[in-house]
Amino acid sequence: MKKKRIIIAGIIVLVAAIAILIGMRFLGSRSMGIDNDPEAEVKGDSNVLVAYFSWSGNGQQMANWISEETGGELFRIVPSESYGEDFDSCADRAKNELDNEIRPELSEHIDAETMAQYDVIYLGFPVWWYDLPMPVWTFLEEYDLSGKTVIPFFSHNGSSNGANSVKRVTELADGATVLTENALSLRGSDVSGSEQEVKDWVKDIGR
Ligand SMILES: Cc1cc2nc3c(=O)[nH]c(=O)nc-3n(C[C@H](O)[C@H](O)[C@H](O)COP(=O)(O)O)c2cc1C
Repeated sequence: MKKKRIIIAGIIVLVAAIAILIGMRFLGSRSMGIDNDPEAEVKGDSNVLVAYFSWSGNGQQMANWISEETGGELFRIVPSESYGEDFDSCADRAKNELDNEIRPELSEHIDAETMAQYDVIYLGFPVWWYDLPMPVWTFLEEYDLSGKTVIPFFSHNGSSNGANSVKRVTELADGATVLTENALSLRGSDVSGSEQEVKDWVKDIGR
C-alpha cells in the first residue's frame, strides 16, 4: 500500500515537472513582450524602490503597476551580457549559471547614497529552473540592504509557490526583512489581465 502511494506521488511529481518543462518550451516560441529601453531613473526621491529582472516582459509589467500604485522608483536589473531572445540558449545559460553559482555582471547600478534612501524594495523576478535567476543574486549581493523591507513578486509557468526562489531571496538579502508570506505569485500567461490583482495586493500590504 505504502509502495503504491510512493509510486503515485512519484508520477505526480514527474507529470508536474514535465508540465513546467513544456510550459518553458511554449514560452520559447512566444514573442518577447519586454521593453528593453524602459524610461526610468532612480533618484532616491521616494522611499520605495521597485527593482525587477524580467526576460520576456511579465515581471516588467507587474513592476510598472506596482510603481504606479506605490509611487516607487523603477529599476530594471540588466545583465551586461544579454540572455538574447532564443529560448534554448537562454535556458542553457541560466542552468549553467545556477549549477555553478555564477553571478553575471550587471550593466546598471544604483549608487550607495541613493540606495540608502529606500526603506522598501519590491523585488520582481521570474522563477528560473525552480530558483532565483542569477542576475538577481548579483543584485542582492551588491548592496547594503540592512534594515530594509524586501517584498518579492514573481511569475512562473507552474512553480506557483516560487519553488526555491523566495527562500533564496531571504538567504541573499543580508540584514533585510523579507516578507515571504506576502510574496505575489502570478502565472506568466495570467499577468496581462492582472492589473487589479497586482494593485490590490499592493494596497493590502500597505507600504
Ligand atoms: C530559463 C527559464 C527557466 C524557467 N524555469 C521555470 C521553472 O523552473 N518553473 C516555472 O514555473 N517556470 C519557469 N520558467 C517560466 C517563467 O518563470 C515564466 O514564463 C515567467 O512568467 C517569465 O517572466 P518574465 O516574462 O518576467 O521573464 C522558466 C523560463 C525560463 C526562460
